[in-house]
Amino acid sequence: MRTPVLAGNWKMHKTAPETIAFLERLIPMVAGAAPREIVICPPFVNLPAAIGAARATRIEIGAQNLFWLKEGAYTGEVSAPMLTSIGCQWVIIGHSERRQYFGETDETVLKKIIAALEAGLKPIVCVGERLEEREANATEIVLGSQFASGIAPLEPGQFSKICIAYEPVWAIGTGKTATPEIAAAAHHFLRSEIRGRFGDEAAAACRILYGGSVKPDNIGGLMAQPDIDGALVGGASLDPESFASLVNH
Ligand code: PGA
Repeated sequence: MRTPVLAGNWKMHKTAPETIAFLERLIPMVAGAAPREIVICPPFVNLPAAIGAARATRIEIGAQNLFWLKEGAYTGEVSAPMLTSIGCQWVIIGHSERRQYFGETDETVLKKIIAALEAGLKPIVCVGERLEEREANATEIVLGSQFASGIAPLEPGQFSKICIAYEPVWAIGTGKTATPEIAAAAHHFLRSEIRGRFGDEAAAACRILYGGSVKPDNIGGLMAQPDIDGALVGGASLDPESFASLVNH
């Protein structure tokens, strides 16, 4: 049995006081949720506020990015040991916005996964095709190559510690969620890639989250798919009621 993961990716939203106010409202609303891992990923500067507010609750805190070296002359970057030193437990790696605007590639994704794992962070690794790639029937080619270059080079022991998020770029922030069937087909494909590289057990154990316009009214259909093990949620994670209803669906 795979424990579902419900992760909120706040992107560049909320100040420190807003972070604390959000968590104070969310905590009682998800206290009785079924077995699932609940993760909130605020901007770097608000991690300490979030970690403080979520202490001794079932909510865990993640970063949205990291740099793969431990320290050095890399102005503006944050390392994995810095994140774990303040109690951060998760990290999103390879989000499509980072690939699109900040030059992230499958190669940097791989380095970041390894750095995160060395420090004991739990990576949520994002893959997904763009609209023109889907329209050209290239979804599986794109997912296959992101998997082959960014994830497959991991050792099996490393792979066992990551979650994957399938996020079709055309569904992110657009209100156009993938239908459960479209998402399920991509998840099924990714699981078969995992099976081919890491074997049956690893494929059966890996949590594959769906992301892209997940909302309280579409989560049920998505989570009913056997290969969908949770959600990485942007817009609908910014409001405590809406995120709580995703967690409690
Ligand atoms: P969205 O974002 O839920 O606002 O579409 C998802 C994501 O980018 O992780």
